[in-house]
Amino acid sequence: MSQDLKQPNGTDILRVDGLSKKFGGLKATDGVNFSVQENSITALIGPNGAGKTTVFNLITNIFPPDEGTVAFFGKQIAGWSPMDIANLGLIRTFQSARVFPGLTVLENVMVGRHRLIKSSDFGQMLWSPESRREEMRIRSQALAMLKIVGLERFKDAHAVDLPMGAQKLLEVVRAVMGSPRLLCLDEPAAGLNDTETEELAALLRAIRAAGISILVVEHNMSLVMNVADHVVVLDAGRVIAAGSAAEVQRNPQVIEAYLGREQNAAA
Ligand SMILES: Nc1ncnc2c1ncn2[C@@H]1O[C@H](COP(=O)(O)OP(=O)(O)OP(=O)(O)O)[C@@H](O)[C@H]1O
Ligand SMILES: [Mg+2]
Repeated sequence: MSQDLKQPNGTDILRVDGLSKKFGGLKATDGVNFSVQENSITALIGPNGAGKTTVFNLITNIFPPDEGTVAFFGKQIAGWSPMDIANLGLIRTFQSARVFPGLTVLENVMVGRHRLIKSSDFGQMLWSPESRREEMRIRSQALAMLKIVGLERFKDAHAVDLPMGAQKLLEVVRAVMGSPRLLCLDEPAAGLNDTETEELAALLRAIRAAGISILVVEHNMSLVMNVADHVVVLDAGRVIAAGSAAEVQRNPQVIEAYLGREQNAAA
C-alpha cells in the first residue's frame, strides 16, 4: 500500500537514557531507557500514573530530570527550552486538548505552521504577493489535512464548539502542520468514538508514510496494536518490557502489570 511507503529504518532518532524524576518521595520515572527509530510509530503504554506524561514532560523539558539524558538526532537536548526543542522538530500535544479559543477550525490548523515563520518576516507577510501565495499554500495544506480526519466541513466553525474528540484530532493535525521530525502525542484517542479512532489510525499511518516518526502515549490497546511498530511498557516509573505489539502482549509481566489489571477491572 502506498501509505506504508516509509517504514522503520533502524536509525534511532530519539534516545532516552536513565531518565529519573521524583515528586516529593514519589519516583514518577525511575531510570527510563528507550529509543525511537526513524519512520516508526512507537507506543509508550502503561497503567494510570505509570509515568508516561512525565516522560513527555522530561523529553520536552517542561521540567528537568533529576538524572538522565535525552538525545534527539544525536544532540543532547537536556536544558534546551521547550521552544528550541520544538524548533529542532520535536513537537508534542498535551493530554487535554488545547485548541485556540476565538479561532476557527481552519485557523487553528494554520497556526501550527507559524512556528516556522520568522518574526522578522511578519511585516512582509501582510503585504507581499509571495506571502499571500504562501498563505494560500498553507491554507490548502490545512484543508487537505482536515479532509483526512473528516473535519473539512467544520472548517469555519469555532474550534471550541467541536466535540472533544474532534478537538483532539484537530490538535494532531495542527502539530503536523509544524513539520515535525518526531511527533509526540499524549493520549490522542482519549474521548474519540470508534469512527474518530479509525480516522486517527489512518492519520497516524499517513503521518509515518510522510516520513514523520511518532511517539504516542495511549490507553486504547486496539489502536496501539493496530498501528505501533514498537511498544515500550512503563509500570511505576520503570520500563518493564519493550518489543513488537505481539511480543509485549504476551509478556507475562505486562499482562500482570497492565493488561491483566484492565481485564480484572472489566471482569
Ligand atoms: N507535576 C507533578 N507534581 C507532582 N506529582 C506529579 C506531577 N506530574 C506527575 N506526578 C505524579 O507522577 C506519577 C506519574 O504521573 P504521570 O502523569 O506521568 O502518569 P501517566 O502514566 O501519564 O498517567 P495517566 O495514564 O493517568 O495519564 C503520578 O503518581 C503523578 O501523580
Ligand atoms: Mg498521562
